[in-house]
Amino acid sequence: MNNEPLVDVKDLTVHFPVGKHLLQAITDISIKIYPGETLGLVGESGSGKSTTGRAILRLEPQAQGKVLFEGVSLFDMKKKELKAFRKTAQMIFQDPYASLNPRMSAREIIAEPLDIHHLERGAARELRLKELIDLVGLSNHHLSRFPHEFSGGQRQRLGIARAIAARPRFIVCDEPISALDVSVQAQIINLLRALQEEMHISYLFITHDLRVVKYLSHRIAVMYLGHIVELSSSNELYAHPLHPYTQALLSAIPIPDPKLERQRTRIFLKDELPSAFNPPKGCVFCTRCPQAKPICFEKRPELRNISSEHQVACHLAPKLPL
Ligand SMILES: Nc1ncnc2c1ncn2[C@@H]1O[C@H](COP(=O)(O)OP(=O)(O)OP(=O)(O)O)[C@@H](O)[C@H]1O
Ligand code: SF4
Ligand SMILES: [Mg+2]
Repeated sequence: MNNEPLVDVKDLTVHFPVGKHLLQAITDISIKIYPGETLGLVGESGSGKSTTGRAILRLEPQAQGKVLFEGVSLFDMKKKELKAFRKTAQMIFQDPYASLNPRMSAREIIAEPLDIHHLERGAARELRLKELIDLVGLSNHHLSRFPHEFSGGQRQRLGIARAIAARPRFIVCDEPISALDVSVQAQIINLLRALQEEMHISYLFITHDLRVVKYLSHRIAVMYLGHIVELSSSNELYAHPLHPYTQALLSAIPIPDPKLERQRTRIFLKDELPSAFNPPKGCVFCTRCPQAKPICFEKRPELRNISSEHQVACHLAPKLPL
């Protein structure tokens, strides 16, 4: 893996003013995403995944902190630099139907980024459109169709064709398969992986389902109530989850083998996710953690290195490298 991150996020914070209060959507998020890498971002609903993805693309005006894209500070970019950034960084959404204009044909939808960024014209454009539709596994005759004429999986392929049209280096995939049938989910994951290999794209892959990220992600960040609580290489996270929240998430994944499934010990969490208006004072997970100690209610644990590929924010995590 290249040592220079493509995206370097430092202390990213988004607190939304709501009436007289501040909703603390994300606080001090620091992550790096390397060229050609997929970083999975996992957490339950409301944990701040989409806000993180949007803030990294400079789509959240309330964002504070720093995002460096190829070493350049995103929040300091002027209009011209920002336009170049918009070409290199794209987003794929959960519901492609809502994000595709129903009155535009597939051809117009895919060609729009080419127009915006003044890319291929004339015969070269026609060739590029055919190449794109082919890359995402659709056929030329689909170009004249409209979004309602496609199935859910085909619509997501169309959304992906649009996202890759301007040859991006980075794509935020926000729950891109959650709305699809299970049988179609694997196809879209395989497509994203093939495109990554072919185009050396980096993904921030957002999902609430740890099963989904396993095969796609090189590393995984686990979010809870606006904070990253664990960040690790994918293999290490599944083999040695250290944060009690990650352990609970993993314990909820059913095992296909009935014998092993019977032996599985599921960790049930008490209570609901606390309000983001008033997160717990100490560890953000203390109100639900089965292992909480008195210190957890007083002091917030830092996200610290356990090994070169594993970080965790928990007072009980090993102090020495494993
Ligand atoms: N524009 C906004 N104004 C106020 N609050 C917001 C805004 N956008 C998001 N939030 C709040 O910020 C918190 C994080 O929301 P976010 O959408 O990032 O979570 P998420 O992890 O993507 O959830 P989901 O899995 O449901 O998509 C939530 O409490 C949400 O209600
Ligand atoms: S710091 Fe304490 S409350 Fe937080 S996860 Fe660790 S043990 Fe649980
Ligand atoms: Mg979301």
